[in-house]
Amino acid sequence: MALITLMFGIIVLLCSETKELSKRSLISEVTDIENYIIHSVNPLNIRHILRELTKQPGLGGTAEEMERAEWIAEIWRQQGMDEVHLTPYTVLLSYPSSTQPNLVRLLNEDKVMWVSAVKQKPLYAPEEALPSLPYTFNGYAAPGNVSGDVVYANYGRYEDFTLLAEKGINLTSRIVLARYGKIFRGNIAKMAEDRGAVGVVFFSDPADFAPNGSVFVYPHSSFMPPSAAPFGTTKLGSGDPLTPFYPAVESAYRIPEEEASLLKIPVQPISYEDAWHILSIMGGEEAPSSWQGGLNITYRLGPGLVHAGWTTHLDVNNANTMSTTHNVIGVFKGREEPDRYVILGNHYDGWLLGAVDPLSGTAAMLELSRVFISFHNETGWRPRRSLVFIGWGAEEYGFLGSLEWTEQFGKQLSDRAVTYLNVDMAIEGNYTLRTKSTPLLIDAIYESAKKIPNPDVDEVAAGRLSVYDTWAARRPDPLEPDIPLMQLIASGSDYQGFQHSLGIPCMDTRYTHDNVVLGDPMYHTLYETFALVDEIYDQGFHFHTAVTALWGHLALVFSDSQLLPFSLVTYAEFIMKAVAGIEDDYGELIASQNISLKYFTDAVQKFNESASSFTKKLNTVDLKNPLAVRHINDQMMMVERAFIDPQGIPGRPHDNHVVTAPSKYDGYSGMPFPGLVDTLIAIKEASAESHKELWRIFSHHLAAVTHFVNTAGKVLSDDLW
Ligand SMILES: *[C@@H]1O[C@H](CO)[C@@H](O)[C@H](O)[C@H]1NC(C)=O
Ligand SMILES: *[C@@H]1O[C@H](CO)[C@@H](O)[C@H](O)[C@H]1NC(C)=O
Ligand SMILES: *[C@@H]1O[C@H](CO)[C@@H](O)[C@H](O)[C@H]1NC(C)=O
Ligand SMILES: *[C@@H]1O[C@H](CO)[C@@H](O)[C@H](O)[C@H]1NC(C)=O
Ligand SMILES: *[C@@H]1O[C@H](CO)[C@@H](O)[C@H](O)[C@H]1NC(C)=O
Ligand SMILES: *[C@@H]1O[C@H](CO)[C@@H](O)[C@H](O)[C@H]1NC(C)=O
Ligand SMILES: *[C@@H]1O[C@H](CO)[C@@H](O)[C@H](O)[C@H]1NC(C)=O
Ligand SMILES: *[C@@H]1O[C@H](CO)[C@@H](O)[C@H](O)[C@H]1NC(C)=O
Repeated sequence: MALITLMFGIIVLLCSETKELSKRSLISEVTDIENYIIHSVNPLNIRHILRELTKQPGLGGTAEEMERAEWIAEIWRQQGMDEVHLTPYTVLLSYPSSTQPNLVRLLNEDKVMWVSAVKQKPLYAPEEALPSLPYTFNGYAAPGNVSGDVVYANYGRYEDFTLLAEKGINLTSRIVLARYGKIFRGNIAKMAEDRGAVGVVFFSDPADFAPNGSVFVYPHSSFMPPSAAPFGTTKLGSGDPLTPFYPAVESAYRIPEEEASLLKIPVQPISYEDAWHILSIMGGEEAPSSWQGGLNITYRLGPGLVHAGWTTHLDVNNANTMSTTHNVIGVFKGREEPDRYVILGNHYDGWLLGAVDPLSGTAAMLELSRVFISFHNETGWRPRRSLVFIGWGAEEYGFLGSLEWTEQFGKQLSDRAVTYLNVDMAIEGNYTLRTKSTPLLIDAIYESAKKIPNPDVDEVAAGRLSVYDTWAARRPDPLEPDIPLMQLIASGSDYQGFQHSLGIPCMDTRYTHDNVVLGDPMYHTLYETFALVDEIYDQGFHFHTAVTALWGHLALVFSDSQLLPFSLVTYAEFIMKAVAGIEDDYGELIASQNISLKYFTDAVQKFNESASSFTKKLNTVDLKNPLAVRHINDQMMMVERAFIDPQGIPGRPHDNHVVTAPSKYDGYSGMPFPGLVDTLIAIKEASAESHKELWRIFSHHLAAVTHFVNTAGKVLSDDLW
């Protein structure tokens, strides 16, 4: 970090002598724009935009989504953005029926004993009662009409399914009832399907989402009310299901729907007051104590219900249909390197009213573009590189708009994109910043966060003046308690295609809740309303303002610094730690196969040496020589690309980044070198007969990873040997 500060000092000093860049001295220009970004974000503007955007739903691929797209495009035209474009993709989306709502029922023979709610109850904001709001569903859950004995599967994690298997509970022809809250629901449903289940029902347990009882909930607090049933996609792969690897443009070839990687079984979310009706009459063994939740009953595993003749029935009437979704793109052109892009993105589609996810981020993005263009209007300033602002369509279904775009423009982006900075939601709480990133951006993010004034008055009173200070105090890195925790970027938003397919360095940031695992208890429910944001999470919109300023500061640093402030040494340190972790956890197991890690650890050492020597060399670059500057920046831009394996990590051709790909068992979490670690986990779990094949996969991937780590070191050199 000290290094980066030093580097900036030098850049700024040298630039001030570079007259050809601008008549004004760059030193004051950089300071002016930096102060402007930090201090000119207007919370009232953000509030106003959020109020406008949250008046009706905007589900991906619908006419309402299109209205939002036009609205955003119009704002950018009025702001004076250099270019504004809408890019359409025709993709397979999934909707509930508008006439036959999905039902979870308890049947006694043919008699209906109980039926789940078809919509969430309006509780507070008038727009919660809009007739245009869709019936409760999960995206891409297959239509189906199934009955079976219900089995409770806790959080539906790998270890939960393993425990059921150990207890001899066979899931074939059963309906799995799982609580959402620890891992991505698509992984839960897929594990249930693979084990023979005919359907899955999700609920969110009050122990996780309403810890203070069902009275102290929305609209009195941000805890989950009994009638909330969160939506969400169940799709595992990213992008349009029918055009894998290629953009869903007019000329596209579309694979038959049966071949798409979609669930084959029906899945439906219900509220916890509804789940109570099933859980309270479940039979079978008592569930382990860690599986007990916050409802006033003893949770049992099943299978089945205590009443003879009763079954659980799932009637899902979703349909997959071709629809068109649009990305909205606004370009603020760079002055010296307009063909180098710093991309800022947020999706603008939402499941219901979407005030937190994603419109808090949309409002932040529209205010941020205003700030940049206002400064341009006042001073004529432009960043060195282009700023590209993008509103993504149909993200909620599995990053469709962004994935198709990175597929369509993948070659150009590989060559020209400097970084992709994602803000999905600007806030989902007001407790601390939470950021996911590639190691390459870590130092810059810390430095920017130190410059953003703390929006929390109590924290300021306690002497923590910056966003960074509260982040470090409230969410320290467990291994280095003096610095804030930076999470590795995994999956969960529009950075997927940039980071994991193209190797463009990405980060995702937001202000979050006190609850480490879950974030916003209102996530994807009807109750993500403007009122929730305005009256509970961010009275005064100061937390939005801080996130907007941070986002803008990072965009400034990457678009306007002569030398890109990438953290090469931090990346090398991160990799060395990850490798040491693998050696600690699995070293003996690997050695037992006579597989050597020597080539791998040597490659890592060499990467560390190249990163260090290159970083030293940065101090000697002739900053007056535009070709020398471009040369150095181009080499740095290659580092993240170097980790891209065109084959993908084992069994996952879409996840090409060998260091940062999402974990197989939970798409949300990020574990370094998942291709190696997932295979080692599988070896530990698998029966002896599959060991040989798994070790073969491991050795093959180890060689690939070794090659790409070597490459990451070598792209920093001019040599090909
Ligand atoms: C910038 O100036 C243009 C031209 O006068 C104007 O149309 C636009 O609204 C201004 N933008 C902002 C953000 O002030
Ligand atoms: C599903 O099954 C139930 C009960 O047998 C029946 O009432 C309902 O009409 C069926 N729904 C569909 C879409 O076939
Ligand atoms: C589960 O039951 C099905 C159908 O009865 C059977 O085919 C399958 O082998 C069973 N699975 C296990 C793991 O016992
Ligand atoms: C729950 O209620 C107790 C007592 O009213 C309060 O002290 C505590 O802060 C509350 N917890 C949360 C998470 O709001
Ligand atoms: C238990 O919870 C259910 C569902 O919230 C509620 O209807 C019922 O009254 C509660 N029973 C008791 C004894 O508190
Ligand atoms: C922060 O969020 C909590 C709910 O999580 C809320 O009670 C509190 O008032 C919020 N603070 C501000 C300043 O908005
Ligand atoms: C590892 O090498 C030793 C010594 O050559 C040999 O005895 C052992 O069988 C080998 N183990 C495996 C798994 O190949
Ligand atoms: C990484 O490289 C630097 C510079 O060569 C060296 O000082 C440092 O000890 C290396 N770190 C490790 C863990 O080898």
